[in-house]
Amino acid sequence: MSNDLIIKQLRVRIGEKEILKGVDLTVQQGTIHAIMGPNGSGKSTLAYSIAGHPGYEVTDGEIWYKGQNVLELDVDERSKLGLFLAFQYPVSIPGLTVNNFLRSAINAHRAEEGKDPKETAMSVAEFRKLLREHMRQLEMSEDFARRYLNDGFSGGEKKRLEILQMAMLKPSMAVMDETDSGLDIDALKIVANGVNALMNPGMGVLVITHYQRLLNYIKPDVVSIMMEGRVVRSGGPELALALEEKGYDWIREEVTTHA
Ligand SMILES: Nc1ncnc2c1ncn2[C@@H]1O[C@H](COP(=O)(O)OP(=O)(O)OP(=O)(O)O)[C@@H](O)[C@H]1O
Ligand SMILES: [Mg+2]
Repeated sequence: MSNDLIIKQLRVRIGEKEILKGVDLTVQQGTIHAIMGPNGSGKSTLAYSIAGHPGYEVTDGEIWYKGQNVLELDVDERSKLGLFLAFQYPVSIPGLTVNNFLRSAINAHRAEEGKDPKETAMSVAEFRKLLREHMRQLEMSEDFARRYLNDGFSGGEKKRLEILQMAMLKPSMAVMDETDSGLDIDALKIVANGVNALMNPGMGVLVITHYQRLLNYIKPDVVSIMMEGRVVRSGGPELALALEEKGYDWIREEVTTHA
C-alpha cells in the first residue's frame, strides 16, 4: 500500500470553465513537494480538489492516497485519512473559539464508529498540554486560543493558526496553499520551523508558493511548475531558483515549442 499521494490526469471544472486540464502529480511519502506557477494556473484549484471542496467538479482523472480512491470520499473522510488542507483564504467563524475549534477537530478525528464520543475524546488536560506546547513552539500568546476563529486575525496570525491546527491534528499529507503570504520574515521562519518539526518519514507535504524565499526554510525535495491547468515541469530545488531568476517565460516558451 502506497502512502504517496497520487494524482493522475485530473480534470476539474468550476461552473462551465475547465481549470485543471489533466494534472499528473505524485507527492511521495517522506518528501516535501513544492508547486509554483503563475497566477491563475490552477494551484489553489488543485488544493481544493484534493480536499474535496464542493464547488470543484472533477470530470476526469484519479486521486489515490493510502490505497483509497480519494474522489469517492467525502471531506471528513479525507481528513480522517490524514489529508490536511491549509487554505489560502481561511474563513472566520465568530462565536467559535480557537480552543473549541481545535478540540472538536481533534475529537472528530479520534471518533470511531459505534463508540461513545466520550470514550474516544482527548482529555481536557491532555488537550491543554498539547495546545500549550505547540503554541509555545509557534510563539503564539496564550490568549490567542480564547479568541474567535480567524475573527480579526492578522494575516500572519491566520497562517500560524493553520500550522497550529496541523501540529495538533498531525496529518500524514498536508497541502499548504500560500502559507507564506502575509508573513513577516520572523513569522515566516517560525511557521517554517513549525512545518519542519512536524515532518517525519511517514509524512508528505505539498506546499504551494510564489516565492523561492519560503523554500529556503521549508526545503523541497521536488519542485513542480503548474501552467494553464497542467504540471508542465518537475525538478529539484534548483528549478525554484531558476524561476526566481528568470521568471516563467522561458518555461512557457519551452512548453509551447514542445507541445
Ligand atoms: N469560482 C470560480 N468561478 C470561476 N472561475 C474561477 C473560480 N475560482 C477560480 N476560478 C478561475 O480558475 C483559475 C485558476 O484559479 P486558481 O485560484 O486555482 O489559481 P492559482 O494558481 O491558485 O492562482 P494564484 O497564484 O493567483 O493563487 C483562474 O482563472 C480563476 O479565475
Ligand atoms: Mg492560489
